[in-house]
Amino acid sequence: MAKAIDLAKVIYQVPDLALMEQALLDFGLFPVERTPDALFMRGTGSQHHIHETRRGDEARFIGAAFEVSSREDLDELAALPGSSEVLPNDEPGGGWVVRMTMPDGFEINAIWGRERVEPLPVRKPNPFNAAHDKQRVNASIRTPREPSPVIRLGHFVLHVSNHDESVAWLQERFGFLPSDYFAPPGQQSPIVGTFLRCNLGKQLVDHHCMLVLQSDRVTVHHTSYEVQDLDAIMSAHDYLASKQWKLDCGVGRHLLGSQVFDYWKDPFGFRIEHYTDGDVVDADYKPSIFNGTAQETTQWGMEPPSDFFM
Ligand SMILES: [Fe+2]
Repeated sequence: MAKAIDLAKVIYQVPDLALMEQALLDFGLFPVERTPDALFMRGTGSQHHIHETRRGDEARFIGAAFEVSSREDLDELAALPGSSEVLPNDEPGGGWVVRMTMPDGFEINAIWGRERVEPLPVRKPNPFNAAHDKQRVNASIRTPREPSPVIRLGHFVLHVSNHDESVAWLQERFGFLPSDYFAPPGQQSPIVGTFLRCNLGKQLVDHHCMLVLQSDRVTVHHTSYEVQDLDAIMSAHDYLASKQWKLDCGVGRHLLGSQVFDYWKDPFGFRIEHYTDGDVVDADYKPSIFNGTAQETTQWGMEPPSDFFM
C-alpha cells in the first residue's frame, strides 16, 4: 500500500496574491517564488514549500499534497480510479505528482522526488525553569515581538459530507492510522470525526496530520503550522494583534493532540493556527473515542467562539 510520509503543502485560491503574501509573512512563513498566477511559501524546514496560493476570483481552499515514500507508491496511486497518471510536477521544486480528487471535491495530490531545501536558521527552544527542573541558569529570556518563524506545516482539518467515505478514501491511498475518534456527546457511535496520522512504524510522528469531521457544511476548518515553543506562540500572538489581525481562538491547550494553540483569521477569512508542544506517537499508539462536549476539547485557555464548531 502507498504510504504518506509527510504533509507536503496546502493549496488555497485567492483573488489577491500580494495580500496573501503579506499575511503569510506576518504569520511567519517565508517566500519561495511568486508568479503572476501563484505564490509559494515555505517554513524553516526542508520541505521546498508548504503553502501554495493560486490566483482566482473566489477565495477558497483547494486541497493539499502528501509526500509519499517512493516512485512505486505513485505508480500504485496512479492505477486507482479517478487518479491522474504519474506526471512531472510542473511547479517550483519539481519531482513527480499524482493528482486525485477526494469525495466533496478537494484536490489531494501525492508527490515524490520534490527538491529539498536547506533549513533556515531558527533560534533554539527557550529553556524552561519548571519548579522542579531549572533548565536556565545565569541567563534571561528575551523574546522580541515579531513574526515567529513557522517551522513546518503540521495538519489541516476538513469538514466533509460523508465522514466514513472520506476517511476510507484517505486511508486506502496514504496508509493513515487513526489516532483518536469523535463520537456525539455521551455515545460510542456513530464516529463523526477521525484524527489521522502517518504510519512510519517506530518513527515518531505528529498525533495527526489531518482531522476529518462529519458536517453539513463542506469546507476547510483550518490549517496549522508548528512554531518553536510557547514564547514563539505568545510573541506571534502579540505581533499579529498589533497588525490588527482578527483573533479567532487562543491561546489555549487542546485535549486531543495536546497542542498549545492560537487560531487567527487571515484577511480572506480563513482560519489559520500556530501550535507548539503537540503529542508525538508511533504506530503502536491506540485510538480512543472522545464523546465529551465540544467545550471539553479545550483543557485551558480561551473558550472557542460559537462558530468554531460549525
Ligand atoms: Fe489544529
